[in-house]
Amino acid sequence: METAEIIANRWSPRAFTEVKMNRDEVRSLFEAARWAPSSMNEQPWKYYYALREDSGEFEKFLDCLVPFNQQWAKNASLLILSTARRHFVYKNKPNRHAMHDTGAANSFICLQANELGYQAHQMGGFKAGETYRAFKIDENEYELASFIAVGKPGDPSILPEDLKKSELSPRERKNIEEIVDGMIV
Ligand SMILES: Cc1cc2nc3c(=O)[nH]c(=O)nc-3n(C[C@H](O)[C@H](O)[C@H](O)COP(=O)(O)O)c2cc1C
Repeated sequence: METAEIIANRWSPRAFTEVKMNRDEVRSLFEAARWAPSSMNEQPWKYYYALREDSGEFEKFLDCLVPFNQQWAKNASLLILSTARRHFVYKNKPNRHAMHDTGAANSFICLQANELGYQAHQMGGFKAGETYRAFKIDENEYELASFIAVGKPGDPSILPEDLKKSELSPRERKNIEEIVDGMIV
């Protein structure tokens, strides 16, 4: 049985072409996130975004990334920061599923990007302290999840040599037997 195309074709590029994303497309990414499942339907995710043409704002996002990610994410059409609210609204109890659920919503963004002809590349490589400060996020209330670079996959030759090599290498995964206990093929 085939894996759904939208899942099978999703990947995390580093080379992006210079295209502008329109506001409807951006909105549809966050609309996809809205429909992710979450514990108690808490929807603990909160997003920040900047389009490349919003130059000052886009720079703010870029500056929060580690240099390794800056070198390729600078070509994305859109940068997103995803955060997770640490507590449930109900009784303000700790929500130990907040990051899990935000990750699920981020996956929906990645799939919707693919649906629109874009790709989304998530990044854990960012400077946390700088991000909390730059975005004026209260660390006691929200945990930083990931940055996400969205764009149309481009020509790998724009990349430095080491990144070009990764871009052109086949994507790898563990075997299904390694990730599912007792899987019989
Ligand atoms: C939470 C998270 C953090 C990641 N951090 C980075 C990162 O900092 N830099 C990077 O180049 N890729 C990062 N990635 C992308 C992964 O390396 C990529 O998803 C993985 O190699 C599988 O490749 P694929 O998405 O093309 O299938 C991250 C992905 C996730 C989900």
